[in-house]
Amino acid sequence: RPFEYPGSKAPLSCGPVSLASLAKKHGTPLYVYSADAIRYRFGLFQQAFAGQRHLICYAVKANSSLAILKLLAAEGAGFDIVSGGELERVLAVAPEAAGRVVFSGVGKTAPELDLALRSGILLFNVESEGELELLAERAAKLRKRARIALRVNPDVFAETHPYISTGLREHKFGIDIRRARAVYRRAAQDKWLEPAGISVHIGSQIRTADPFGAAADRVAKLVRDLRKDGLPIQYLDAGGGLGIEYHAAQPFHPEEKVQQYAAAVRAAVSELSDITLLLEPGRFLVAQAGALLARVLYVKKNGEKTFVITDAGMNDLIRPTLYQAHHEILPVEPPSSRRTITADVVGPVCESGDFFARDRVLAPLKPGDLVAILDAGAYGMSLASNYNTRGRAAEVLVEGKRARLIRRRETLADMLSTETP
Ligand code: LLP
Repeated sequence: RPFEYPGSKAPLSCGPVSLASLAKKHGTPLYVYSADAIRYRFGLFQQAFAGQRHLICYAVKANSSLAILKLLAAEGAGFDIVSGGELERVLAVAPEAAGRVVFSGVGKTAPELDLALRSGILLFNVESEGELELLAERAAKLRKRARIALRVNPDVFAETHPYISTGLREHKFGIDIRRARAVYRRAAQDKWLEPAGISVHIGSQIRTADPFGAAADRVAKLVRDLRKDGLPIQYLDAGGGLGIEYHAAQPFHPEEKVQQYAAAVRAAVSELSDITLLLEPGRFLVAQAGALLARVLYVKKNGEKTFVITDAGMNDLIRPTLYQAHHEILPVEPPSSRRTITADVVGPVCESGDFFARDRVLAPLKPGDLVAILDAGAYGMSLASNYNTRGRAAEVLVEGKRARLIRRRETLADMLSTETP
């Protein structure tokens, strides 16, 4: 983990960089990321798939900050995007990576499809027959051939929070795997569409390898059927979804996890000749590389309960309230005694759902103290909002001994600039 106390009495740091100094320089709330940790995780993924033709398409939605996209592009990553905006982000920092982009999402618009066609992306992960019709129309109009994969819904159950599970028939994602063959036949007749792959994504924060193997098995069978139908399917996109452990008390070995995951996916395709695996990890690459730094504003008691009120709120990190997600919270100054309190750690936003932790046992905190909310690198900043007219946080990237501001704090002027009274 990149955020650690270097010694029993030393304050929490990101590698060699003191978090207190970053907070002093850039203010709070502040997202801090470790570039080394992201590179390390990406390397683990690469190693786990070594010897198998593959491309890791980082799921941009997990953290779409330009500096992180640039860093990953330099490592050779491709990208999984879900909007024209995300594609523009990739093009802004790594135009050469356009050919390594896959485009997912159930609601792609004509302008988004046009942008992707013009950019020459690798693959459109088509999620409905309506989208296929629209893509065929836009491709013909622009005279650009589109390589397509159908995102099939494999009807595989994966244990995770219901909001982030996607692989069941009752979900809005993908095309029923039983209909896929017919839809491919239709696509193959269109001179502007090139059926080149199949994709699947069963959900996020999935911590066991089995569901990934089960989904990949079903898709691999479909690849065989389609090849029998004469379609040259070259890509199997296994989606993202590999989870991490948010509870410090639970052991977590990323090296082992990614090995098990890769083994399950690779086993499914072992009989397929000439297949390129596409993987779309998001969380696994960036979650644990990031922390949200916040300052304690007040500590108060209401009846039996103690509330630690920080200057970061649900608009900065919505995961605890949206998914009942657990994030460890550490004081930046190491606790001087063994004394603990049980408190809710909350933000300033006017909602009872504005919390980071409930009834958490913590070292005693007082106003002015800094805390780090861990494992906030994925789906933290990318889900941030301006609720309560709060400017979004600044972001810092730590590379070795250097720390660099990669996004300045959003100002009031930024927020008001789009409005007309
Ligand atoms: N590919 C597709 C098509 C996806 O929909 C997603 C995530 C991914 C890849 C990346 O999944 P990952 O490897 O990060 O699990 N906001 C939620 C997570 C939403 C995930 C949405 N789709 C959270 O904070 O837990």
